[in-house]
Amino acid sequence: MTTPPAGCQVRPIREADIDSFRELLDAVASERKFLGSTRAPPLASVRDFVLEHIARHQPQQVAELEGELVGWADITCRGEGATRHIGTLGMGVRRDRRGCGIGRALLLSVIDASWQQQLKRIELEVFPDNTPAISLYEQLGFEHEGRMRKARLLDGHYRDVCGMALLHPDIRS
Ligand SMILES: CC(C)(COP(=O)(O)OP(=O)(O)OC[C@H]1O[C@@H](n2cnc3c(N)ncnc32)[C@H](O)[C@@H]1OP(=O)(O)O)[C@@H](O)C(=O)NCCC(=O)NCCS
Repeated sequence: MTTPPAGCQVRPIREADIDSFRELLDAVASERKFLGSTRAPPLASVRDFVLEHIARHQPQQVAELEGELVGWADITCRGEGATRHIGTLGMGVRRDRRGCGIGRALLLSVIDASWQQQLKRIELEVFPDNTPAISLYEQLGFEHEGRMRKARLLDGHYRDVCGMALLHPDIRS
């Protein structure tokens, strides 16, 4: 198991991080391999997303290294009523900082924050060829729940998507 580089800090996102977070999201989306989108949303939308997470105490952690944001992990709550116990995970690490333990640290941190917010289920969607992400999710206890066929159309190609989820220990049986 790799531990994050010395000086790497995983912490909750702040309003002052919004521009850097959007740049990071845009860089990972622009790789066109891992996320459902190929660009970050406009700055105003990203700003609303982050401010809503902060205001509603929805977990959104960033990793900072040498004064720059190098990764994020966020949990977006599904809503009210019968889905209020569910959060949806999104995450990414800057390309040149992958494989050195930052993703694991971010994911552990948002899982912990999610349980503190009384969430009971964290779910996500991942492309089936995204081996690094799937390995990380499996290591931290996420289980495969199914495959959605041709669920994304990216660069003219249909792609399947795998559904995975982690349940709070209280409701695992
Ligand atoms: C998925 C991602 C967030 C993992 O972050 P990371 O910082 O590279 O991961 P870590 O260094 O913390 O590694 C944690 C575990 O992930 C898995 N992993 C990481 N890189 C891997 C690779 N190249 N091949 C296989 N498994 C890998 C391993 O299980 C690893 O555990 P180990 O160190 O005990 O072997 C990162 O690769 C990334 O940003 N990918 C692009 C964006 C993305 O895919 N987001 C998720 C969309 S669902």
